[in-house]
Amino acid sequence: MNKIEPIGRPLQAALAPVQDYLAELHARVSAVSGGNPADYIPELGKVDPELFGIAIATVDGQVYAVGDADVPFTIQSVSKPFMYGYALQHYGRPAVLEQVGVEPTGEAFNSIVLDEVANRPFNPMVNAGAIAVAEMMLGDTQEKRIANMLELFSDLAGRKLEIDDAVFNSELATGHRNRAIAYMMLNTAMISRDPNEVLDLYFRQCSVKVTARDLAIMAATLANDGKNPLTGKAVFDAQYVRDVLTVMNSCGMYDYAGEWAYEVGMPAKSGVSGCIIAVIPGQIGISVYSPPIDRQGNSVRGIRVCQEISNEFELHAFNNRTNVRSVIRRDYRADLVRSNRLRTPEERAVLAKEGARIAVIEAQGALFFGSTEQLLRRLMHLAAEARYVIVDFKRVHLADRSARKLIVRVARAMAQGETELVFAGIAENGPLESLIKALAESEDGRVQLFRDTDTALEWCEDRLLTGAPFDLGTKFAVSEINLFKGLSPAECRLIESIIRPLMFDKGDVIMREGDDAKLFFVLARGTVSVEIKVPGRGERRKRVASIGPGLTFGEMALLDGGKRSADIVANERVICYGLGVEELHALAAEHPNVMITILSNLTREFSERLRHANEEIGVLE
Ligand code: DON
Repeated sequence: MNKIEPIGRPLQAALAPVQDYLAELHARVSAVSGGNPADYIPELGKVDPELFGIAIATVDGQVYAVGDADVPFTIQSVSKPFMYGYALQHYGRPAVLEQVGVEPTGEAFNSIVLDEVANRPFNPMVNAGAIAVAEMMLGDTQEKRIANMLELFSDLAGRKLEIDDAVFNSELATGHRNRAIAYMMLNTAMISRDPNEVLDLYFRQCSVKVTARDLAIMAATLANDGKNPLTGKAVFDAQYVRDVLTVMNSCGMYDYAGEWAYEVGMPAKSGVSGCIIAVIPGQIGISVYSPPIDRQGNSVRGIRVCQEISNEFELHAFNNRTNVRSVIRRDYRADLVRSNRLRTPEERAVLAKEGARIAVIEAQGALFFGSTEQLLRRLMHLAAEARYVIVDFKRVHLADRSARKLIVRVARAMAQGETELVFAGIAENGPLESLIKALAESEDGRVQLFRDTDTALEWCEDRLLTGAPFDLGTKFAVSEINLFKGLSPAECRLIESIIRPLMFDKGDVIMREGDDAKLFFVLARGTVSVEIKVPGRGERRKRVASIGPGLTFGEMALLDGGKRSADIVANERVICYGLGVEELHALAAEHPNVMITILSNLTREFSERLRHANEEIGVLE
């Protein structure tokens, strides 16, 4: 293959659209003023209010950063969703729900309100809830708990993080309101350990030093089902990420949560240091750092940046981009589109008549409830008239639990009836592997499995053809072979005199691409595959056709005497008859009619194949 030279600055140019947009956005929002840096923790008040950084990280670890994206600050309340994820991961939902609820308060982050009915704080995003969650950090000693907490945040950021001691000490010295909350919770047994110890951890988690770049990676870890996109480390299970995002969505922006959900529509969390993270599941994590905050404790520029990004890229969670109908790439029947098995004219006639009893549906994209319902509705419609329905899953990249359950239901129902369900293109370790396991284990779900649609089609065609009257057996007369049709009995005997019987074992290469073409073959027993090299794929070969008894291969040698255009490989033990091209030409020199008949048979065969190929192209367009 020719090497393609890169044009211009390929990498930079490819990154430019998002990077350029962020640079413009940063410049525009730099003009926005309003709010003040938090100073109720004295150390926080010392910050330069003009610091302003934005970062976006994708689920595959690409980071776009502008402004002060590498300046460290303390994470503050943005630590809360991650500590909540930790608790879920280590204790499970029921235990965590006993410790803290999931109900928004509509109150400020430091409000002293507790759910007295359920005897727990309302949610893990307000201070009371976060303090209750901090109590769940594992470790026998406070040192160990601090080390575990730092390990959690380091895993999320993909680098080793540290505590800002100045901010920690400042908060420890002034955090009386949080102390009041913790003691109130001790009083009602919402926490059980020494409040000072729990608060020590809570203040430390708020004082973890991060940059906007780190926060974008942490947010992208949530976007990536809990797996850090830089390191690949699975920090949270996907089921718990969903819980974390749910609570961020309803409670992450405190008493601004409703308006935020309305305008921006992303699960998010803010911190009083002036940072905000937002998550677009499956796509990106966003972070903004700008210290001036509003009355609700949210960064003024941070809100503005997220609003603009949401509008610009249509990222509101309730924008609907799903098109369930696109799950069906196309469907067709085997009267028009046949397998790559070459068939005799008799077989072709049967398939033209009966092939409509084999239906093929090509599925594509993601299988979830809505798309699977569409797919299965079409499948049931086709099954009403077909004997075989092949579903090609090759282009399916995801199948969730609901999809698998619905498919199992259909497989079970169809196992009771006449129509056979055939699955093709299910990759090992692919999204449908667990479905196949479930079906294999269940007694009442019977599905035939094939590696690709072509093999599945061939199998279904063979079943339709079984018992057809033209079953030839191993030995058949020369006069019955398509290529020799029309020869007189005497001419047939001449052909027989130059035929050589040959036997090959499974996997034997009968003809090799590029070899001189000296023989052509009539297949008597077994099947062979026609394989070609795939350009640019090294030694990989692609099966383009298979051939069964009664058919010829290598016959192009009669026409051009050139090189072989493909490999022919025996699929099993094969018996065939070889005819020397030179011998046939010598024979034809004395009996010209032999060659004329053979060539006209060959031409008819080729024109029929071409006609069919055109028809198929029309259907598969
Ligand atoms: O509890 C506190 O006061 C702080 N360490 C964290 C508060 C915070 O970031 C609230 N978010 N806007």
